[in-house]
Amino acid sequence: MSPLSGQNILLGVTGGIAAYKAAELLRLLRGAGAEVRVVMTPAAAEFVGPLTFQALSGHPVSSELLDPAAESAMGHIALARWADRIVVAPASADVMARLRAGLADDLLTTLCLAATAPVILAPAMNQAMWQHPATRENAAVLRQRGICLLGPATGEQACGETGPGRMLEPAAILAALITAEPSGRLAGVRILISAGPTREAIDPVRYLTNRSSGRMGYALAAAATAQGARVSLVSGPTALPRPDVERHVAVESAAEMAEAVLGLAPASDIYIGTAAVADYAPAPSADKIKKDADTLTLTLTRTRDILAAVAGLPERPFTVGFAAETRDLETYARAKLAAKRLDMVAANAVGAGLGFEVDDNALHVCWPDGETRLPTAPKTVLAHQLLDLIADRYHAHHPAQDPR
Ligand SMILES: Cc1cc2nc3c(=O)[nH]c(=O)nc-3n(C[C@H](O)[C@H](O)[C@H](O)COP(=O)(O)O)c2cc1C
Repeated sequence: MSPLSGQNILLGVTGGIAAYKAAELLRLLRGAGAEVRVVMTPAAAEFVGPLTFQALSGHPVSSELLDPAAESAMGHIALARWADRIVVAPASADVMARLRAGLADDLLTTLCLAATAPVILAPAMNQAMWQHPATRENAAVLRQRGICLLGPATGEQACGETGPGRMLEPAAILAALITAEPSGRLAGVRILISAGPTREAIDPVRYLTNRSSGRMGYALAAAATAQGARVSLVSGPTALPRPDVERHVAVESAAEMAEAVLGLAPASDIYIGTAAVADYAPAPSADKIKKDADTLTLTLTRTRDILAAVAGLPERPFTVGFAAETRDLETYARAKLAAKRLDMVAANAVGAGLGFEVDDNALHVCWPDGETRLPTAPKTVLAHQLLDLIADRYHAHHPAQDPR
């Protein structure tokens, strides 16, 4: 039996140079047994004539939202219900922005909004358009909503530039659609994340801790899982629901976190240290300390530097550190990157509604030969944006594993 037989696929084509490749994708989809109907944006019809898609699909091509003839036959709601999957290839920067905003200003976006079927996008655009923070943010939000992004690939572009933004080849899109669960760029990558605060016991009833809520690390764990990664989460005590990850290790102290992380790091491809690990810990008293004296002096000892220890492993994973700073963010971030020989540092300002115990954050991300800013956004959105950057850098180190 053909791999896609019995499947109704609605192919959305938007206005970009890669629109001509959608004809090849349509041919491949039909060859794999799918029933395909094509919806083009008006801009797409400027690049390739609807007649090509009509001939290849064997059905009239829909383009107009306010088309009385179409409404009487197969209207937009009926078309949305008909589709088992909506595949938009190429997906322009413009359509991604409109989908992110929930607009329904043409037939394709209206269908995407009305459909309950999975929506899959194959972005295609100039590399600067793809790397623009607006498109990055749109991609992250769309992913967070469960929309699957296939690609884009990196390479030479029609405009003569080179970089990420090429549409994935039609054969690669078909292969991803045949796989039961089309997965993201981190499919199968083993990601170790440490999150939350640590608790350093003073005596059996008291401890020292910090304001970390664990939200950034948990958002990263959920986003990485959504992108197909195999996630191990080592977490200090938090009030958050346990995310759906492959392995969850609950720890309390910095020493326990170090042991868990260093035990898992050699079998991980990427380590992201978001935990706020205590830098100093007391030697705990075996008995509860009595309030006999007027003052109490605690002697604190340096804990193990987990990030530096992971980065120093002979077979180290791609290592990403977090830095929470109250001032001179960029200077400290770069100093930390160099001092601990990390692959990337994501630094955030703490205070003024950002950082600890809040839903929003903003990051300054740097790596040895570059840096970027991820402006204030919910941590769930930032998590996808940061993972995109990590995937870019990780795959630059391991090009053979990049599905782009
Ligand atoms: C020659 C030419 C090529 C273009 N190629 C792309 C492209 O590859 N990707 C893209 O996102 N936009 C591209 N654009 C811009 C889009 O066509 C424009 O944003 C349009 O509004 C997209 O409309 P749609 O999203 O409704 O299809 C191109 C424009 C021109 C004139």
